[in-house]
Amino acid sequence: MAPLLLLPVLLLFATAADGYPSTCRNATCGQQTIAYPFWLNSSSSSSASSCGYPGLGLACEDGTTLIFLAQSHRYKVSNIDYETHTIALADADAFTTTTGCPLLDFNLTIDTISALQLSHADSNITFFYNCTKNSWSSAVELSGCPQYNKSSYVSPADDYDGEASEFGCEAAVVAPVLEIHKKGIVGVGSPPATKYVEVLRAGFELNYSPNSDQCGRCERSRGWCGYRHNQTHGGIVFSCFCDGGPTADHCGKCPSSSSPALLEIFLASEFGFQSMSSSSFG
Ligand SMILES: *[C@@H]1O[C@H](CO)[C@@H](O)[C@H](O)[C@H]1NC(C)=O
Ligand SMILES: *[C@@H]1O[C@H](CO)[C@@H](O)[C@H](O)[C@H]1NC(C)=O
Ligand SMILES: *[C@@H]1O[C@H](CO)[C@@H](O)[C@H](O)[C@H]1NC(C)=O
Ligand SMILES: *[C@@H]1O[C@H](CO)[C@@H](O)[C@H](O)[C@H]1NC(C)=O
Ligand SMILES: *[C@@H]1O[C@H](CO)[C@@H](O)[C@H](O)[C@H]1NC(C)=O
Ligand SMILES: *[C@@H]1O[C@H](CO)[C@@H](O)[C@H](O)[C@H]1NC(C)=O
Ligand SMILES: *[C@@H]1O[C@H](CO)[C@@H](O)[C@H](O)[C@H]1NC(C)=O
Repeated sequence: MAPLLLLPVLLLFATAADGYPSTCRNATCGQQTIAYPFWLNSSSSSSASSCGYPGLGLACEDGTTLIFLAQSHRYKVSNIDYETHTIALADADAFTTTTGCPLLDFNLTIDTISALQLSHADSNITFFYNCTKNSWSSAVELSGCPQYNKSSYVSPADDYDGEASEFGCEAAVVAPVLEIHKKGIVGVGSPPATKYVEVLRAGFELNYSPNSDQCGRCERSRGWCGYRHNQTHGGIVFSCFCDGGPTADHCGKCPSSSSPALLEIFLASEFGFQSMSSSSFG
């Protein structure tokens, strides 16, 4: 009897797998699984369609390094936690010099309607480049920076939004870091710049959710957000992948035709065929 009771469950799983659009299949990059709502933005698979949230396409470099591109600035993805909806990242372009002096030239700005948002675990540190003076008591000088005749500093300031020139500097960059790592160094004397660099290297986290109305609406209708190429129009268009195929917005309200049939099989096997199963297996 036990094997037959498993049957409906297996059937349900088979159907769920069929409902999962083939474009939403998991991909891997090195040790990491790229699963919905993230998707692999690879040139080879860009032809037909992709399944995932707008803005959550990731690139796999050399088949090993997972990269998130923010306005063409590269962030290395160290982990995606699908349970807590968290992606862990670190600036991949800040350490291209061999000096150990991070050179940031990009403020990460997170659009409020984007699928990604800064997490509560984040804080900021601020880098000031090519300064004629140190205007902050809390800032420490970055040593070993090839900054010509001027100095550069790093500060624990987390809400800096001024003009670098007001402080006698040529540039300022606000970088997200994990609060817990920052706390670990700030408040225990005056940390050397190298400690800040370690904190920067350790990265930060972003949370993801279907923040656009369109994607939220699609998911609430039990669809999967994604993209399709529109032949007539040329570009890629938002699509909602449903049991019955992709739609432009959301899945139909009526349950798909296969579901009542499955329920019948399930009920029949649970109740109607029970005596038969007992007799055939008993
Ligand atoms: C895809 O990956 C996610 C996250 O690791 C996992 O939960 C899910 O079971 C995987 N799906 C398939 C079809 O392998
Ligand atoms: C995919 O990545 C390329 C660069 O690697 C970028 O130009 C393109 O905009 C990305 N596509 C999407 C839909 O994010
Ligand atoms: C860090 O900086 C970002 C962008 O400048 C800002 O939106 C955010 O509120 C800052 N975080 C903290 C903890 O101040
Ligand atoms: C600092 O000054 C040097 C020399 O003038 C220049 O090459 C470099 O781009 C400047 N860096 C920043 C971040 O402004
Ligand atoms: C650095 O200072 C030296 C001497 O003070 C000067 O000759 C040189 O031009 C300066 N370099 C830059 C890039 O400002
Ligand atoms: C980064 O943001 C700060 C604060 O808003 C601003 O002063 C600075 O000019 C920005 N830097 C760059 C490179 O955009
Ligand atoms: C493709 O684009 C055309 C013109 O913008 C539009 O009328 C049509 O509905 C689109 N097709 C799909 C499948 O989104």
